[in-house]
Parts: sequence; C-alpha cells; structure tokens
Amino acid sequence: MGSNTGALILGIVGGIFCVITIIPGLILLWKLIVKPKLFKNSPQKYRGKNTYAIITGAAGGIGKAFAEKFAKEGFNLIIIARREEILKEMKQEFEEKYQINVKVIANDLIFIDKENQWNQIEKELKGIDIGVLVNNVGMCQYLPGKFGDIDIKDINNMVSLNIRVLTILTHIIISIMIKRKEKGLIINMSSATSFVPFPMFQVYAASKAFIKQFNDSLYSEYKEKIDCICYCPWYIKTEMTKIRETSIYVLEPEEFVEYCFLFFGQQNHIDPYWFHYLMDIGAWLYPTDIFGSMILSMQTFVRQRLLLKLQQKNKK
Ligand SMILES: NC(=O)c1ccc[n+]([C@@H]2O[C@H](COP(=O)([O-])OP(=O)(O)OC[C@H]3O[C@@H](n4cnc5c(N)ncnc54)[C@H](OP(=O)(O)O)[C@@H]3O)[C@@H](O)[C@H]2O)c1
Repeated sequence: MGSNTGALILGIVGGIFCVITIIPGLILLWKLIVKPKLFKNSPQKYRGKNTYAIITGAAGGIGKAFAEKFAKEGFNLIIIARREEILKEMKQEFEEKYQINVKVIANDLIFIDKENQWNQIEKELKGIDIGVLVNNVGMCQYLPGKFGDIDIKDINNMVSLNIRVLTILTHIIISIMIKRKEKGLIINMSSATSFVPFPMFQVYAASKAFIKQFNDSLYSEYKEKIDCICYCPWYIKTEMTKIRETSIYVLEPEEFVEYCFLFFGQQNHIDPYWFHYLMDIGAWLYPTDIFGSMILSMQTFVRQRLLLKLQQKNKK
C-alpha cells in the first residue's frame, strides 16, 4: 500500500523538522519516550479475579499479537475471527502455555446483523468479567481505485466491518465494563490514513477517521471508568499489507503491540512507534492537496501493477 522511498522521505522530513525546530522535537521526546516510561500503566490494573480480554480479528496479524500479549499478562481471552481452525489452535496453545481460559467465536462479522447474531454474542458474554476490548478487526479492498471504480460489495463490507461492527460491539461491552470495580480498557485500531488524504483507499481511510473520532469522544465520556485509546500506525507486516520484509518503517505485529502497551491510560490517540510518528510529522508538513496528489500518483502506479498481475494470472 505504498512506496518505500515515499515512506522514508516522510520519516526523514519529519526527523529533520524535529531537529531544526526544537519544540516539536521536545514534544516528541516527551510524548513517545519520557512520558510512557514515567507513567506507564500496567495492564494488570484492568484485571480482576477472572477477567477476559476480547479481541476481534484475532486469527492473524496485529489481533493475534494482541491476543498473545494479553494472554502472557494472565488475561483469559475471547478471540473472534472467521477461521475456526486457527482460533482453535490458538486456544490450545495459549491455554497450555499461559494457564488461561480461551473462548473461541468463529463468525464472519460482516454478516453479524443478520439472524440476530448480536443477541447470540451478548448471550455468550453474559456473566463474564470483561476488562479489555480490542477493536482490531478491519479490512481494506485489494485493488486501489477511484471511488467510482470501487466495487459496491467492498464498500459495504468496509463500512460494515470497520464502522458498524466496532460501534455496536463497543456499545455492548461498555454496558458490561461500566459496572466493574476495576477500570476497563478499550483499544481501537485506526490508522495513519485517518488524518491524511488517502485517495484510492478513500473508504478505508474515512472509516479509520470515524474510529479515531469515535474513540476520542468515548475517551472523554468514560475517562473515570474506562481508558479508551486509539492507535494510528503506518505499516505493519501482516496479511493485509502483504509486506514481506520489516524495515525502519515496517514493524512486526508483535513489535508494534509492545509499543502499544506503553501508552494505556495516557492519551486518547497516538501513533506509538517513533519512526511512524516522524512520518506523521512529515505528512503534516505537506499541504493536504499536495500530499493527496502524491498518494494518488503512487496508488495509481500500484493499481496498474496489480491489474497487470491479475491479467497475467488470468491468462495462465
Ligand atoms: N497492517 C497495517 O499496516 C495496518 C496499519 C494501520 C492500521 N491497521 C489496522 O489494524 C487492524 C488489523 O490489521 P492487520 O493488518 O492485522 O489485518 P489482517 O492481517 O488482515 O488481519 C485481519 C484479522 O481480522 C480477521 N477478519 C478479517 N475479516 C473478518 C470478518 N469478516 N469477520 C471476522 N474476522 C475477520 C482475520 O481473520 P479471518 O480471516 O480468520 O477472519 C484476521 O484475524 C485493522 O483494523 C487495520 O485496518 C493495520
């Protein structure tokens, strides 16, 4: 979903800006390094006697990394995704390794509005102490394209999964969390595309902006009882990005989750990895129309390459 040089240039421009203008540099140092070290909140503060963390999109990528990290911290898990086999393997592995209970919900969340499935999920959660909700599940269409060229089915699926599912599940869980003695934690996975124009992935980017906006309001509403935090990263090596190699701007999901764990209860939203943060600053320095045009030409190139690949595949 992007070019290597583009990402490097953003990070370097952000870095140079921070060095030559002392104030943003100091803010960056405070926000990303000093504050998390001084005020790091242990996830144990969200844990009671028999507490569960519920993670959507847990069968791979960032969701799986969150699941394992909370399992290590002693949380029981409710893991949700479509591939039941993978979820069952995770259940067996984590129950043995971390002496916890794992519940599996294998469900295509896109279709959850049909046949009263929300009621079924609510039933499964009844009487369970839920300390953590990780709203991780999300999707993006395969082929970048101008809005008129995006398949209606993809638009529907993105809006359903990235917005509707997250909103309704959060509504259900908040009514459970608010009654707890301990504080609750809600993690919302947005993206750096939430604050820059992202042509050719316009629906995905707008859905991620919804998540950030939604999170920041919940953060203020529930501060006393629930910590809401939204993460807005650039590139992580997962099935979604199809990036195969890590680099200074591409993290392994496990590394990314380690960074996320530094920021609970500290602020409403953050890009938790320092180089991604420099990329944010680099992006903010561009006028949005220039930034949008750059992304448009990059993604037009990516689209042409993918179309060629598809044509060659169809010929075989
Ligand atoms: N990777 C990045 O660079 C990046 C950057 C910024 C933000 N994000 C955000 O981070 C989140 C996780 O991304 P990722 O890269 O880890 O994605 P991923 O590798 O594609 O993993 C998505 C997870 O969601 C599950 N899933 C997908 N569709 C589903 C459906 N219809 N119903 C239920 N489960 C479903 C998948 O398992 P099944 O296939 O078994 O269902 C998988 O466990 C997303 O919200 C994404 O927008 C990612």
